[in-house]
Amino acid sequence: MNIFEEIREDHKTQRSLLNTLLRTEGDSNDRRSVWEKLKVELMAHEMAEEKNFYNPMIEHDKSQEHARHSIAEHHEIDEMIKKLDDTEMSSSAWLTHFKSLRELVFHHLEEEEHEIFKVAGQVLNETEKERLAKDYRASMKRQAEKLN
Ligand SMILES: [Fe+2]
Ligand SMILES: [Fe+2]
Repeated sequence: MNIFEEIREDHKTQRSLLNTLLRTEGDSNDRRSVWEKLKVELMAHEMAEEKNFYNPMIEHDKSQEHARHSIAEHHEIDEMIKKLDDTEMSSSAWLTHFKSLRELVFHHLEEEEHEIFKVAGQVLNETEKERLAKDYRASMKRQAEKLN
């Protein structure tokens, strides 16, 4: 596995949780449990990705701007998560905010997989791609344990 495959796998989990949540209703156990799972996935992934993917990308002139742009989007996602946590889950505002978060994350994953991976592929060598994959997976596990 290389870093791209590891990240893609977790993106798949995020997409699936985002879609599952849309099928839940009001302030229910269902919605609460999917929301908690989704938050852990999103936050652990951001941290593991910044440490083991964007940090090495920042080292290269060619990929620095892309890395900064993505990290800025991570902050937007964090803000939206906070907003959702501060909103009554049974209100229609919660669902409106959630739909914005879903759009934001879908856009972000799409951009990473189609634009960022291309640039990263040009600056990281094969050994790095494999080493980062292992480091990413280990970070992901640590972060998820911390957040759970
Ligand atoms: Fe990301
Ligand atoms: Fe990502």
